[in-house]
Amino acid sequence: MLIKRPADIPSSEITDRRVYVNRRTFIRAAAAAAAAAGTAGVLGCGGADTGTPQPATKPTTSPASGFADVTESAFSTTEPVNTLEQVSTYNNYYEFGTDKSSPARYAKLLRTAPWSVAVEGECAKPAVWHLEDILRGQTLEERIYRLRCVEAWSMVIPWIGFPLADFIARCEPTSKAKFVQFFTLDDAAQMPGVRVPVLDWPYTEGLRMDEAMHPLTILAVGLYGEVLPNQNGAPIRLVVPWKYGFKGIKSIVRMRFVEQEPRSSWQISAPSEYGFYSNVNPSVDHPRWSQARENRLPGFLRNRPTLMFNGYADQVAQLYSGMDLRRNF
Ligand code: MTE
Repeated sequence: MLIKRPADIPSSEITDRRVYVNRRTFIRAAAAAAAAAGTAGVLGCGGADTGTPQPATKPTTSPASGFADVTESAFSTTEPVNTLEQVSTYNNYYEFGTDKSSPARYAKLLRTAPWSVAVEGECAKPAVWHLEDILRGQTLEERIYRLRCVEAWSMVIPWIGFPLADFIARCEPTSKAKFVQFFTLDDAAQMPGVRVPVLDWPYTEGLRMDEAMHPLTILAVGLYGEVLPNQNGAPIRLVVPWKYGFKGIKSIVRMRFVEQEPRSSWQISAPSEYGFYSNVNPSVDHPRWSQARENRLPGFLRNRPTLMFNGYADQVAQLYSGMDLRRNF
């Protein structure tokens, strides 16, 4: 198995200087953040808890970290973004507990450096990638993506990320790769929540290849110009803004290209409630709650209508032409 090491190729030789400097700053900040870091009721991802954000807890990032001159993605919305406090204190990350305030409290236990992502399955280049090497891709450039993210609640989050497609291209999937599956770290020593069998660990998610290759599907490594707070999925997580938030798997350690449709953690846990596609669709209710309206935080009472594909229909509806989205929920 190919193991790429940061020392093999100096970054300065393969990227222009502005990107190189940015990325070096990020890598240093990620290491610094890591060094500094030292269930009740009916479970369901989305409907059960519609409370308001908890008081602020500072995320575990260094104020000196940053992506000072990243450019704005063309996909960014001009809607007002949520505050860093809201984004980093009202989270779902069951490996750190099932209530919305637990991740901000306990995710500091997660060591995010060194970090690697194993790529396996139907691809010509199976490898264990050090995070630094993923971030050093020749064609890769982080951008700010101000995207709506929706569950029963919604926020607008200024992610720093890059298209998943850029990374997938470097893995060279074969023609047999019809889907890509993702896995989160599963380590009880760092993640107290995995001692409780609320989900079938490790957390896993999947995308069809054309969904994975869509330019709106990103791997996020930061938000608000800083490295990702641990509770938001540091050091690298998926964001698929036209799907419900639970598709956005956090702290990815493994990706596998597969021929058959993989099952996600939520499908395994409640197959009648969660399907593979999980596209935001206001006309298809969850069996236990309506999906017609959402609660844009910090508001109350489902204060706005939910839009088809979370408002990204112009970009993604063609991926599903001819499909019955009531059956393929
Ligand atoms: N990834 C892992 N590994 N574990 C989780 O519990 N929760 C999902 C998703 N990714 C989850 C996860 C759900 S239900 C949501 S809504 C989003 O993360 C929340 O992301 P955020 O906390 O950054 O807003």
